[in-house]
Amino acid sequence: MNQWYCSVCHTKLNSEKKPDICEVCHADDRMIMNMEEVPQSLEQVRDLARTKLKGICAAYPSCDGSFDKICQREAYGKPIGLGGVGQGLSFRANSQALADIQFNMSVLGDHFEPDTSCSFLGIDLNFPVLASSTAGAQKYNDALDETMFCTSVLKGSKDAGTIGLRGDTWFYTLEDNPSLNAMKACNGYGIPIFKPRAQDVLKRLIEKAESYGCKAVGMDLDGCGSTIMALHGQPVFKKSVKDIEELVNFTSLPFIAKGIMLPDEAQKCADAGVSVIAVSNHGGRVMDSTPGVATMLPKIREKLGDSVTITADGGVRTGYDVLKMLALGADAVLLGRDIIRAAVGAGSLGVQLHLEHIKKTLKKAMFMTGTKNVKMADSRILFKQN
Ligand SMILES: Cc1cc2nc3c(=O)[nH]c(=O)nc-3n(C[C@H](O)[C@H](O)[C@H](O)COP(=O)(O)O)c2cc1C
Repeated sequence: MNQWYCSVCHTKLNSEKKPDICEVCHADDRMIMNMEEVPQSLEQVRDLARTKLKGICAAYPSCDGSFDKICQREAYGKPIGLGGVGQGLSFRANSQALADIQFNMSVLGDHFEPDTSCSFLGIDLNFPVLASSTAGAQKYNDALDETMFCTSVLKGSKDAGTIGLRGDTWFYTLEDNPSLNAMKACNGYGIPIFKPRAQDVLKRLIEKAESYGCKAVGMDLDGCGSTIMALHGQPVFKKSVKDIEELVNFTSLPFIAKGIMLPDEAQKCADAGVSVIAVSNHGGRVMDSTPGVATMLPKIREKLGDSVTITADGGVRTGYDVLKMLALGADAVLLGRDIIRAAVGAGSLGVQLHLEHIKKTLKKAMFMTGTKNVKMADSRILFKQN
């Protein structure tokens, strides 16, 4: 009798041949692996992802949207895959803006164990890093089922001591919505971010999220330029401040406005009552030639003061990048592409291993900059040329 492992719910299954389905979480055989193949390290997760994402993403050690990467070579009329829109200038700007920031390395003082714990919308987290809202992984070589992708992200985030956001795309509908299916399976421990659909559709989706016990809801305002949604009969729109206000008042849950890149627009969303401003250019996937998120983040924090929770995402690959975003004004940091690769590679186990690795490097970065807890991360730890 062989032992098999479900990479979504960690169940061990006994069977002579590979089971077609996990009897506990109903993941199909794409998520089931031989016990000997279960990855122990992030490198092994990446190796698995590289194979499954062949031709789409090579899970390079650096993911920065440069032209030598297969995702960016796929541009010009081909599906966007995991790349950036157009020439990938916004994707690269995210990575470059982070790379341009350096730390003041501090070695004197009392020895200490960095405390990464934090609170996000009243939820206690082990560290201020969340899985970002992403969608569509099922379409990459049919590597996994979309609901299992979403469940993997939510469960893996929880197992690592944090929480996951989930995205929205053209094959998600009111009736069959992989993000909400996964929320239900995970007892609501997650945050769905919806595309800027028609207001009445959004209200129905929000009602479902509320009924599953989700912790917050939100909208990626920068998804307004998507053409593929309309092609599939699910049009998206630019939203007015009044529209946002209407949704904020409609729901009893905290509301996240994602895809904000301008201080004035951040202020308008804050005035409309949103609980979180998610500074983001969608990983450079919705408009070419924006500045990097790390460039805009301090300007937005300066405008808003301490009144509103801010997240930042875009090009964050290590705990060092996380600490840079925190020092620039973010309360929490979101990971996009890396979490997709981790979930495709090894389900919730992959996501957990990835997030735990990020926490480890965040601790290292905090230690070497004398940052005892995440609240202490500010511009003083960043190197400034006079
Ligand atoms: C394949 C893919 C799909 C995405 N889908 C969504 C989505 O449905 N909703 C959303 O708010 N953001 C979406 N994003 C953007 C991410 O939430 C996040 O802003 C971005 O990936 C962060 O940059 P990074 O990938 O460099 O970490 C997507 C990103 C990728 C790469």
